Order: sequence, then C-alpha cells, then structure tokens
Amino acid sequence: MHSDQIHALLSEEIASGGSIRGRWHAEYLGHSYRSAVDRAMARVDGRPQSVLKTDLWNECLGGTRDLAGHFQEQHGCRFFGLDLEYQVCARARSRVPAVHVVQADIRALPFRAGSFDAVLDLSTLDHLPDDGVAQAIDGYRRVLRDRGVLLLIFWQRNFLMRQRVFLKRLLGRREKPDQHYFARAAVRAKFGGGLVVVREFVTGSLLIPPQPLTGFVLGRLPARWVTRFLRRLVDLERSAVVHPLLKHFAGLYGFAALRRKDAEYDRPDAA
Ligand SMILES: C[S@@+](CC[C@H](N)C(=O)[O-])C[C@H]1O[C@@H](n2cnc3c(N)ncnc32)[C@H](O)[C@@H]1O
Repeated sequence: MHSDQIHALLSEEIASGGSIRGRWHAEYLGHSYRSAVDRAMARVDGRPQSVLKTDLWNECLGGTRDLAGHFQEQHGCRFFGLDLEYQVCARARSRVPAVHVVQADIRALPFRAGSFDAVLDLSTLDHLPDDGVAQAIDGYRRVLRDRGVLLLIFWQRNFLMRQRVFLKRLLGRREKPDQHYFARAAVRAKFGGGLVVVREFVTGSLLIPPQPLTGFVLGRLPARWVTRFLRRLVDLERSAVVHPLLKHFAGLYGFAALRRKDAEYDRPDAA
C-alpha cells in the first residue's frame, strides 16, 4: 500500500470514528472485537503470558477501537503487534509504547514455534488473496503453544456483502485496499491438523447495506441508547439461537480454535 494511501485511510477512519454518524460503527466493532477477545482469552489454559495481535490498524486508531490499551488493562501480559506496513508500525510504536511492534507478513511469522498463548487475527486474514489463507493459518498454528487459542474474524463472502461492495463502488466510497471476502466453509477447511474449532460466531450484522441509513438513524439517537443497543446486539450475535439465521446475513464471521497437539477431532460447540 502506498504511504499516502495509508495516511488518507487512517485519517478517514479517525475522522469517521469521531463523527456523529460514524461513531456507532467504531463503537460497534470495538465492543464486538473486545468481547470476542475476552471470551477467547478466557479459553487459554492458565494465565496468558504472551499474545500476538495481527495488524495494528485498530491500535493505531485509538478511541473505541483501541484494543491494545484495553488489553494492557484487562489481561496485563506481553502483547506483540504485527503489521506489514512501516507507517502503521511506526504509528503504533509511538501511540502504544508497551506493545512489542514487529513489521512482518502474516504469511511468514518471524517467531519461534509455540511462542504465544493466543493469536488474535481480527480481519487481517481477509487482506490476503485466497491462496494465502492456508499459509497464514498454518503459521498461526505453528506459533501457538499447546492449548493456546486462535481468534479469527474475517469478512464473509455472501449475497449481502456482494451488494455492499457493489453499493460502495456505485457511491464512489473507498474500499480498504486488498479487502477480500471469504466463504465460511473455505476458511474452516483450513483448520484441523492440531487446530480444533471450539466456537463459531457472527458479528457485523449492522454492517450490511444501507449503512448510511443506519448511520443516519443511530446518529439521531442519544449516545447512551446507541451504546445500550449495540451491546445488546453483540450479545444477540453470540447467541446459539440466532446463529443459524444470522450467519447468512452478518458481515463478519468468527472462529475460536484451540491448538491441540493430540487433536483427533474437530467438533465446534453450538454457536
Ligand atoms: C486496512 S486494515 C483493516 C484491518 C483492521 N483489523 C480492521 O478491522 O479494520 C488492514 C491492516 O492489515 C495490514 N496487513 C495487510 N496485509 C497484511 C499481511 N499480509 N501481513 C500483516 N499485516 C497485513 C495492513 O497494513 C493494515 O494495517
């Protein structure tokens, strides 16, 4: 990605997170990601010592999507952040000095086998072409210790997401560079061989079109109502009851998987 492009995109996201119409979006994803991370961390066997977060975009932005700050407060372990782009790494280094920042590609992780208790990929994988997915997931498996946790969230390829991309193009809205959308089954097929999927969930059900209308409506409501609504929605998205329906509509799909050296089965629980 060109550095001007990165700068423009970062500025755009920071500005939109602070605007009345865009705030709900940052708050929604921020809350959803944090709650997914907290649930995943609760599955780590013992007290987590070191965690890898792939891509530093959210940490760079701060505000409601600042995962690194949250992590430091809630989990207090060694937090490694990795990103492909120098500019994003530099910004993360200056904003969150406690994070160990590494500039690298998720397809070639520069860490020893078994280095991490948890790997958190919150929409980094979906910046790879299809043929990079297996390579990245193999890398995550390698750097996780036995009974470590992988949290993976990615943009889904489904009917509504195709409409979203089409509408964005029609309205001349900028899509993130190299943004890809994956079918759930295709990503799931890359697990196994020591990575056992223990949970599947959806999020991003509000990110379907027409987002400007959603922003307009939520932007007119009192902030505390919006916060309450978004929290309830994230809870609902995690519920096993609505999972079979929402998985066809939601923008993002998530897997939590355990690294099990002795794994012979791959049986996710409910939603
Ligand atoms: C545009 S951001 C969006 C992702 C962000 N997690 C979100 O949910 O909005 C994508 C980030 O992933 C990084 N990235 C893209 N491909 C990567 C790769 N192969 N390895 C590591 N980081 C990558 C980019 O530099 C950028 O910071």
